[in-house]
Amino acid sequence: MERTHARWIRRIAMSLPIILLAFPAFGAGPQDIALPKRPASVQSDLVSALEKRKSVRDYRSEKLGTQDLSAILWAANGVNRDYGRRTAPAAFGNDYLEIYVVSDEGAWRYDAMAHRLTAAAPAGLKERLTSQRFVGRASHVLVLVADSGKIPGLFAGSEDRLRWAHATAGAIAQNVYLMGTARGVGTCLVAGIDEGAIRKGLNLSNTAIPLYVMPLGYEEK
Ligand SMILES: Cc1cc2nc3c(=O)[nH]c(=O)nc-3n(C[C@H](O)[C@H](O)[C@H](O)COP(=O)(O)O)c2cc1C
Repeated sequence: MERTHARWIRRIAMSLPIILLAFPAFGAGPQDIALPKRPASVQSDLVSALEKRKSVRDYRSEKLGTQDLSAILWAANGVNRDYGRRTAPAAFGNDYLEIYVVSDEGAWRYDAMAHRLTAAAPAGLKERLTSQRFVGRASHVLVLVADSGKIPGLFAGSEDRLRWAHATAGAIAQNVYLMGTARGVGTCLVAGIDEGAIRKGLNLSNTAIPLYVMPLGYEEK
């Protein structure tokens, strides 16, 4: 009897990798993703991107390409200089703005220094970020989250520090709009978010403040 049990346990253990591959939801959730190198240039000049910039709320069902995602994340708040300096300005240069990427497959945190995505949460959050339905229909959604613990606080109160975080988020948002426009990816800055759902879904700490979401997708014309 005991030997039969042992045989069954061995059989189940051996077939576990196949079960996990076939049903990733039973596995460890999303994996970290190495992004392709960001493009050195885009086929658009700044004036043309500014002329075409607009909010897009209708997206085709096509998934966002990883080259486009890489370009947009780098433009958003990637490293552009020595000492880890970023494409977006931040008070005292502190890195207090985190960008999460949410898709149908899960959620990741953008690690700007390594230019890669670190797995943050399993699938199921995209449709719950906001009650504005067009967001859930986008291929990917960026979630801008301030880490209030990292905002410099020596010379300012909490209201000032929150204003600084919103200002940085605004600069990041415009970077996303412009790189998106240059590469044919539509987006919209959305302030009407479900903070509780985001907090829970991304397992955020008490010091984290979700600020905005930005859906990304190819425009349905
Ligand atoms: C701070 C801020 C919050 C916004 N929140 C939302 C929002 O919750 N939902 C939405 O559909 N658009 C939102 N927008 C986008 C604006 O509606 C949009 O920028 C405006 O209508 C002008 O259109 P345009 O971006 O195409 O020029 C927001 C924009 C800003 C700057």
